[in-house]
Amino acid sequence: VVLRLICLVIGYAFGMIQTAYFYGKMKGIDIRKHGSGNAGTTNTLRVLGPKAGFTVLFGDMLKCAIAVWLVGWIFGSMYPEHLYLLKIYTAFGAILGHDFPFYMNFKGGKGIAATCGFVIAFHWSFIPMFLIVFLVLFNITHYVSLGSLAIYVGFIALLVIEGQLGLFGFADMATPDKIEMYIVAIVMTVLAFYRHRSNIVKLIKGEERKTYIFKKNKV
Ligand code: G3P
Repeated sequence: VVLRLICLVIGYAFGMIQTAYFYGKMKGIDIRKHGSGNAGTTNTLRVLGPKAGFTVLFGDMLKCAIAVWLVGWIFGSMYPEHLYLLKIYTAFGAILGHDFPFYMNFKGGKGIAATCGFVIAFHWSFIPMFLIVFLVLFNITHYVSLGSLAIYVGFIALLVIEGQLGLFGFADMATPDKIEMYIVAIVMTVLAFYRHRSNIVKLIKGEERKTYIFKKNKV
């Protein structure tokens, strides 16, 4: 339990470095008062343009990846059989830090860029699935939220497939932790859907904001 808590705290400490918020402040705005009001990559892209959006994407991915790599580096040799479980707890902590940073009155982002950083540091097998699912949906619909939620469904599916079939080799190393890994991943997915609840309502009503990378966006 203590080890899990340490991973959550390390994750939170990195996750709360809210790139969108600080980038916005540098440009003299509180990003949460513009566009969708979300302190994340998509809203920064819409409000401040592609350079700002990609900087925030990179920053949020990097902070989560660093937290996960750090935990792997500190605990990997001590607890090799629990490595992947500890990485998932760290990512969960980082997403909590990103979504609920205490110094922003707990009003942060939705955790998608941080999740992308996590899977890069977690295991390579998620990267093609994330890229394909997101890019296909985004290209067709231009709804970032739809692509974001779909990659979470893909994340759970791939984790369970790997856990049961052992296609990529990481679940074998975490045999004692499989069920707990699924549970943490499901909690992360529920959190992502909860953070996107207003997007889901808008998607159903057909009122969700479309996002374009190189065209000016409506904010
Ligand atoms: O990463 C967040 C994205 O999925 C939705 O953001 O600004 O459209 O609510 P936004």
